[in-house]
Amino acid sequence: MTENAVTPGAAPILRLRGVGRRFGGLDAVSDVDLDVGPGERRAILGPNGAGKTTLFNVISGDMPATAGTIEFLGEDVGQIPASGRSKRGMGRTYQKSRLFLGLSVEDNLYLAVLGNQTGHLRPFRRSRDGDIRERARELAGAVGLQGKCDALVGSMSHGEQRQLEVAMARAGDPKLMLLDEPASGLSRGERVALTDLLLELDPSITLILIEHDMDVALRVANRVTMMHDGRKIVEGTPDEIRANDLVHELYLGGRVAGAEEDGA
Ligand SMILES: Nc1ncnc2c1ncn2[C@@H]1O[C@H](COP(=O)(O)OP(=O)(O)OP(=O)(O)O)[C@@H](O)[C@H]1O
Ligand SMILES: [Mg+2]
Repeated sequence: MTENAVTPGAAPILRLRGVGRRFGGLDAVSDVDLDVGPGERRAILGPNGAGKTTLFNVISGDMPATAGTIEFLGEDVGQIPASGRSKRGMGRTYQKSRLFLGLSVEDNLYLAVLGNQTGHLRPFRRSRDGDIRERARELAGAVGLQGKCDALVGSMSHGEQRQLEVAMARAGDPKLMLLDEPASGLSRGERVALTDLLLELDPSITLILIEHDMDVALRVANRVTMMHDGRKIVEGTPDEIRANDLVHELYLGGRVAGAEEDGA
């Protein structure tokens, strides 16, 4: 766990009230209230199908909520499409990778930076193109991939690909980053490296992290929200989550104790 730059009593950067998302007869997300403060590291936990990714989708605007309100930096963004929310400072990664495996690290980042530029696409001027390339290399360096700019993404390890996804989510200089299971599919060593990367992220960037891996979630987060059947069921500090009977019953079993023994 990290204390980070959380200011007690500061206005939340993200505020959800009564948020829901219905698919036909299924309430994937139901009546969720959520306040995330500036600089906070929030982990969202919950079993498969709990509604975690759907919650991210309605926050980022990838799909509209069917109930409730979403405020980002004090503005109601419920009717604003994903591109507009991204321009206002939301960056996200996806549970299923969206990297271009046949392109290099630098080219993936180049496209991410380009996609986040404001205004209409203008014909490239050499200097502007050079600026974007420089920014792409800077982003690669910020996640430890400085030596890999020319590497084909498809030839890299899963761990490096996850690092690159974090860099891509940073391309628009987000104030809020939503990371959907950044450690999934990684080896133990890779998970440790990714956790270190998340701990080193600029403390002024607010982070919401969906994570099944307790080692990662409880080390990175200073506050945890637990979901089940589309609803928020428990919220608290990592210590409160470790000690919560309902969390153990529904989700954790003996895994938290195991995670602590691992000392990751
Ligand atoms: N586009 C969709 N259309 C219909 N049902 C959906 C859609 N997306 C998600 N669901 C359903 O909504 C529920 C919540 O799914 P969601 O992907 O949000 O869960 P999750 O907590 O992210 O699970 P996991 O840990 O497996 O990633 C599931 O029952 C899922 O089948
Ligand atoms: Mg999911």
